[in-house]
Amino acid sequence: MKHLIAPSMLSADFANLEKDIQMINKSDADWLHLDIMDGLFVPNISFGFPVVSHIKKHAQKPLDVHLMIVDPDRYIQQFRKAGADILTVHYEACTHLHRTLQAIRQEGMQTGVSLNPHTPVALLHDVITEIDVVLLMSVNPGFGGQRFIENTYSKIRELKQLITEKQAKTLIEIDGGVDASNAQKLIEMGANALVAGSFVFKSDEPSRTISQLKNLDF
Ligand code: DX5
Ligand code: ZN
Repeated sequence: MKHLIAPSMLSADFANLEKDIQMINKSDADWLHLDIMDGLFVPNISFGFPVVSHIKKHAQKPLDVHLMIVDPDRYIQQFRKAGADILTVHYEACTHLHRTLQAIRQEGMQTGVSLNPHTPVALLHDVITEIDVVLLMSVNPGFGGQRFIENTYSKIRELKQLITEKQAKTLIEIDGGVDASNAQKLIEMGANALVAGSFVFKSDEPSRTISQLKNLDF
């Protein structure tokens, strides 16, 4: 399977989201990545349900919703109603992760679990077969435009081993600081999906940058 590209709307033009959504619809992107921040789990606040619902109205591709919020169980149904297709929670924010994943699946969404840069991959050992996508944070969550953390490569290797060992079908997605300098290596190491915010939206031609990420041709 060719790797997937998920532009992060956090770096889009919030005053004209429709224009950027149409650009993504016509581009080589596979998913739209939506970052939900509550000002508690991370030191930033982004946007909530009304914005997700409005994005859903225009988007022709799946919504990959990344919850950087405490106690995400409270909002699983509401994110489904707003249009999430993949719902990713943080390992660090879930006391009963297995139950949370069951609830996400019960709502008909794909399950995602994100790990902060300091959280070991091995902690997913007993739950990996319940996870459709593991989102490895390659920056500390909360802001776009940060520098990629190199230790991510060895986490991909470890995660790939775990997925193979458990015969899981889990995809590996990388989030934070993805650009032309690391995309190729991330895919070679075993990543299946790349999130890119500032690299896409701060480029002169975002649609072309998405194609470059998709074809690893810079
Ligand atoms: C960071 C978010 C990312 C962010 C990535 O907390 O989870 O999705 O938008 O932005 P870049 O690609 O600019 O690092
Ligand atoms: Zn994200």
